[in-house]
Amino acid sequence: MHNKLRSSADVIVRPGEKAHSAPFTLEGKTALVTGAARGIGRAIATKLAAAGAAVMINDLDESAVTEAECALRTSGFEAAHVCGDLTNPAFPEEMVKAALDTFGAIDIIVNNAGYTWDSVIQKTSDEQFQAMIDIHLVVPFRVLRAASTYLRETAKGEIAAGKRVMRKVVNITSIAGTQGNAGQSGYASGKAGVIGLTKTLSKEWGRYNVNVNAVGFGLIDTRLVQPINGNAANIEMHGHQIRIGVQPAMLEQAKKASALGRLGSPEEAAGAVLFFCSPLSDYVTGEVLICGGGFNF
Ligand SMILES: NC(=O)c1ccc[n+]([C@@H]2O[C@H](COP(=O)([O-])OP(=O)(O)OC[C@H]3O[C@@H](n4cnc5c(N)ncnc54)[C@H](O)[C@@H]3O)[C@@H](O)[C@H]2O)c1
Repeated sequence: MHNKLRSSADVIVRPGEKAHSAPFTLEGKTALVTGAARGIGRAIATKLAAAGAAVMINDLDESAVTEAECALRTSGFEAAHVCGDLTNPAFPEEMVKAALDTFGAIDIIVNNAGYTWDSVIQKTSDEQFQAMIDIHLVVPFRVLRAASTYLRETAKGEIAAGKRVMRKVVNITSIAGTQGNAGQSGYASGKAGVIGLTKTLSKEWGRYNVNVNAVGFGLIDTRLVQPINGNAANIEMHGHQIRIGVQPAMLEQAKKASALGRLGSPEEAAGAVLFFCSPLSDYVTGEVLICGGGFNF
């Protein structure tokens, strides 16, 4: 019975007919994207909005997330923001509630927020290691736990009514998580851990028609991998000035070592995420898609 239900992805094309419609639309869908004030998260929110979704964007950087929401609205998209630090244990629930209060639904969740705090293991403090586990693993866990009541109860109602509505979770990981990377014991552990969370929830939530997948990036051209030229860039996290960026020589080496010979753009990164947010991936779950231009650590 379940298998005979039609989904919105079904497009009927009769022999001799051409399908002129776009492969999918996200009109009527609502997406929640974390860490969306800049970089890859912002590109993901923009792609989802351009495909028709209403987007709730989150970031801890108030001015940047307000500006990102304004830019989306100026483009004619439906957007709202909820500012806050996801590592505050109470905040994921507040964020999910804000999305439901604003749009009345959540169809797509992208756990994207993250940062790097790198050192070789002998120089890695407990606080530093824990911070990487918190933002890359504990936060996605809390966000998805906070959304679980809505996702399960809504799906139960739909299934009882004979409808199959697919919802989407995409967790952002890294080739540091799938391959390991020197200097990133905490980051790589958090990014590996979120793959376990992804695979587990794909099994818990398949019955509720939720696709749960992960996208792992190689080197994407954002502030995290900006060339360190003289003055290294810092981000402030929980009272720490954390150095970000990559030595230019290492960047050049990485470009050469990648099959495509260059870094990826945030828009290219967002394209891989869009696949998992769209009906094109309705029968894909528990998978990790690497979007890395063929680069390996
Ligand atoms: N850029 C890359 O090469 C690369 C490679 C692999 C994985 N990633 C992952 O992609 C994701 C996006 O990274 P990016 O390169 O766009 O970085 P970015 O720094 O440009 O954007 C990340 C955003 O997350 C926000 N953020 C961080 N901690 C937060 C918190 N506690 N609460 C709310 N917001 C928070 C930041 O303020 C920032 O706006 C991250 O998970 C990162 O680990 C990036």
